Amino acid sequence: MDFLKLTQLRHSVRSYATQPVEPEKLNYILECARLAPSAVNKQPWKFLVVQSEEGRKNICRCYAREWLAEAPLYIVVCAAESEAWTRRFDGKNHADIDAAIATEHICLAAAEQGLGSCWVCNFDPALMQELFRFEPGTHPVAIIPIGYPNEKEQPEAKRKPASDIVTYL
Ligand SMILES: Cc1cc2nc3c(=O)[nH]c(=O)nc-3n(C[C@H](O)[C@H](O)[C@H](O)COP(=O)(O)O)c2cc1C
Repeated sequence: MDFLKLTQLRHSVRSYATQPVEPEKLNYILECARLAPSAVNKQPWKFLVVQSEEGRKNICRCYAREWLAEAPLYIVVCAAESEAWTRRFDGKNHADIDAAIATEHICLAAAEQGLGSCWVCNFDPALMQELFRFEPGTHPVAIIPIGYPNEKEQPEAKRKPASDIVTYL
């Protein structure tokens, strides 16, 4: 599959089948995340794979949506700001940027494997911390549900035209 096709295929899936995700596919996705680029190659990320009944329930307490509960597994992508590169000019910490790149690798890899995913950032961060106890200096950036899509058809991608967003100098 060429890259344009893959980016067209990837979309936010908000309906999942009960079919479990094969461990080989999960490993493939995690490997694609591991190979993501990061500022000064600091790799300031952690990936929490949530598959247990209790863990899945806790995820859904932090972002209570019926469709989210359908997913058989979640990857919580965490940024380790204490390990990340910081730009000396203004002190900008790049952990969230690095974690976001790895997150999109996950979503694209899932799509390539015939799986659906969805970025979820609108979770309750305090409740996440209480339930999952992330290491100090580390915070969750996104919850990514992963599973086989249960959709009749892929929704149309709504995007701004290139003329609105691209400038040539
Ligand atoms: C940083 C980020 C945060 C997002 N958070 C949520 C979320 O909390 N809940 C949700 O349903 N979708 C969330 N989305 C999905 C977006 O709504 C979706 O990517 C956008 O509408 C474009 O649609 P598409 O992914 O189908 O192409 C998020 C996407 C990004 C990139």
